[in-house]
Amino acid sequence: VTIYVLEGTPPARIYQVKAADPENAKLKYSLLPASVPFSVFENGTIFSRKEFDYEKDPHCYFLNITVTDPDGLNSTRTVNIKIININDERPYFITKQRIYRIPEEQSLHTVVANVSAKDPDDEGSPSRLFYSIQSSHRYFSINSLTGVLQVTGRIDRDALPLQLHPNISLIVRVEDSPSGGHDNELEITIIIDDINDNPPECNPSTFRKEANENTAAGTFLLELRNYCKDIDVDPSNNRFNFTGLSGFGSNNFALESTLSGRLVMTESIDLENRANLGVEVYALTVRVQDIASPNYSNIIYIYIRIKPVNEFFPVFSNLSYVFNVPEIAKGTSHRKIEGVKDLWESPAQLMLRVSWVHHRRVNARDKDRPPSVITYSIIAGGGTRNYANIFWISPTKGHLKILARLDYETAQKHILTVQASDQEKTATASVTVNVLEVNDEEPVCLPNFYSFQIPVSLSVGTNINGFRIECQDRDSEPRSFRYFINEGNVNNHFTFSPSAGSNTSRLILKSRFDYESGLDTNWIYRLRVYITDDNLLSARDKTTRLVKTGTVTLSIRVIPNPTTVVTTTPGFTLVTKRENLYSGSAWYVPFVITLGSLLLLGLLGYLGLLLATWLRTRCSPARRAHSTPPINAPEKKKPKKDVVVTMTKLNTVFDGEARDPVTGRMYEFNTQSGARRWKKSNEPLQPEPALQVTSSAKDDSGQGTGRAEAPSKKEPSENRKKLTAETKPASKLTEGQ
Ligand SMILES: *[C@@H]1O[C@H](CO)[C@@H](O)[C@H](O)[C@H]1NC(C)=O
Ligand SMILES: *[C@@H]1O[C@H](CO)[C@@H](O)[C@H](O)[C@H]1NC(C)=O
Repeated sequence: VTIYVLEGTPPARIYQVKAADPENAKLKYSLLPASVPFSVFENGTIFSRKEFDYEKDPHCYFLNITVTDPDGLNSTRTVNIKIININDERPYFITKQRIYRIPEEQSLHTVVANVSAKDPDDEGSPSRLFYSIQSSHRYFSINSLTGVLQVTGRIDRDALPLQLHPNISLIVRVEDSPSGGHDNELEITIIIDDINDNPPECNPSTFRKEANENTAAGTFLLELRNYCKDIDVDPSNNRFNFTGLSGFGSNNFALESTLSGRLVMTESIDLENRANLGVEVYALTVRVQDIASPNYSNIIYIYIRIKPVNEFFPVFSNLSYVFNVPEIAKGTSHRKIEGVKDLWESPAQLMLRVSWVHHRRVNARDKDRPPSVITYSIIAGGGTRNYANIFWISPTKGHLKILARLDYETAQKHILTVQASDQEKTATASVTVNVLEVNDEEPVCLPNFYSFQIPVSLSVGTNINGFRIECQDRDSEPRSFRYFINEGNVNNHFTFSPSAGSNTSRLILKSRFDYESGLDTNWIYRLRVYITDDNLLSARDKTTRLVKTGTVTLSIRVIPNPTTVVTTTPGFTLVTKRENLYSGSAWYVPFVITLGSLLLLGLLGYLGLLLATWLRTRCSPARRAHSTPPINAPEKKKPKKDVVVTMTKLNTVFDGEARDPVTGRMYEFNTQSGARRWKKSNEPLQPEPALQVTSSAKDDSGQGTGRAEAPSKKEPSENRKKLTAETKPASKLTEGQ
């Protein structure tokens, strides 16, 4: 008989032995061997005496049960008792290793650990254990059947969190049943070791530095170590050095120590040196490299600009400059702009004008490379008392320009101080501007307009009326004047003496008038006198030798001898055209003329009446009471010889003026008719009242009153009318000359 007993079962009856005796005798049961933890009762019941532990106790017992009757007859049988194992024990880890070290960055499925456990219940048989770690671990997983721990995620020691906490703790759990069994746990620690898997990095990786030229050799520029690092955690992987300095001009620089990467200058760089000409920026490269294998590296770019230093003072091309600038006639430039050419302008004058527009230049350089920008300024002497700034210098080009007119007669020389500056250093030069005299002043002669009446019989060589002109010229000597009559000197009757070499000259009658033979027909001479200056002063330069001309206009009327006049010419009766010019819009002019004419007519009538009265009182006083029209008088009686009855139509246009040498007063005259009147004299002269006619006719010069020597008639077309009058007023003015 085989009896199965579960382990852990408490002591209890486990089997009933049955035996039979034919004699029905009382049977006795016994059990052998006695060492087994079982007993058998008298009635044959087998009890277990202990609780069995499969893992400790024998798994199987053999009981020899003997049954004996009172006669001693017996029978023996064997009972086989087997203990049945149950899962009552916890599995346990047989792996002793708790700490593992692995390098970072292991590839996936790399085996990290082999964890094994055993279950006492399964002693001697392949165990059924299940391994696990906390689900979805970041780096590892465990094979649930074999307990092999593998890498399943990237392990980067150089990044958080491993960078700070490189030890990973893991709880490995083992279970002996998929559900409801016994389990056990094991904590293991995996230490992640750093490997050299990163190159050194520099931030920035490109450097720009400046160094002044001529910096002393050995000058420190840059310590690269301060900008570079290696993220590898392990100090041995974190070491690098700087090597391989290269690039154009790298011989001027060096790395003081490969560890620190201190960059220093080995040469002083002079930008003015021809070898360095044009080089301002040196481009260098340096390699930064891990000391640890596999010697990862990076390239650093370094640009070093050599800053120019302003070392040199500007230097003018000349220590001093002398510019010769001709002065220029007043208004010349103005005239040039308008394009009106002066009648007497010479080509030399035109040239001068152009050169005036031109400018002179100063020039300064400095030896600095690259070249400094030089600016120019006038720091002293740019003006005179009257003009603050005669000169201006263009700041960039150094052109000296003349803003105001240079006047030799005011200042013959200007001395300026010109400065050249390279923004830091300055230099000065003196500029002397010599004003070249140009004969830009014309002679000014007084009087410049004059009118004479001269008797026809004037003897040759006479200084006519004592007339002389006096000339003045701001830039010419008194000796430089020449006089000549350019126009109107018909038959060369007139000349000036002296004709040159003096600032005063007299008008001389050169040859006799000869009207009788018909040689002369002109009674009126209008002379245009030119006075030139030879200006010997400015003659050093031929181009500047200029002649300036002034003009004087003379009007001369030849008065015939009274005797001659009567016999040859019946007086000089001039019929000239009256010129009243007025603008069409001046409506009042015709009105005033008409009114004036009416008044004149009335006055004329009154005068006629007076004359008639006078004649009657003179010729026939007896008939005083009787009134006879004076018009009839000439029929009765011829006028006396000494009474020249002349009607002169006066031209009311006065186009000349002159000074009466006797009274010193100015008078105006008509150059055609010789008529004249005092100028700007409101009160009329006091000739015979009977002969005075006040005309209110206006002319274009706006003069309202004119004084006539003889009565005027209002209608120019009217035939001349004869009146009896004395010639006294007409001769009164000429008498004094
Ligand atoms: C793990 O360990 C067990 C026992 O120590 C061994 O039989 C097995 O081969 C090992 N497995 C691996 C992958 O090392
Ligand atoms: C003319 O010249 C003399 C010297 O030669 C001088 O004294 C005089 O003032 C001058 N006259 C004029 C009007 O310039």
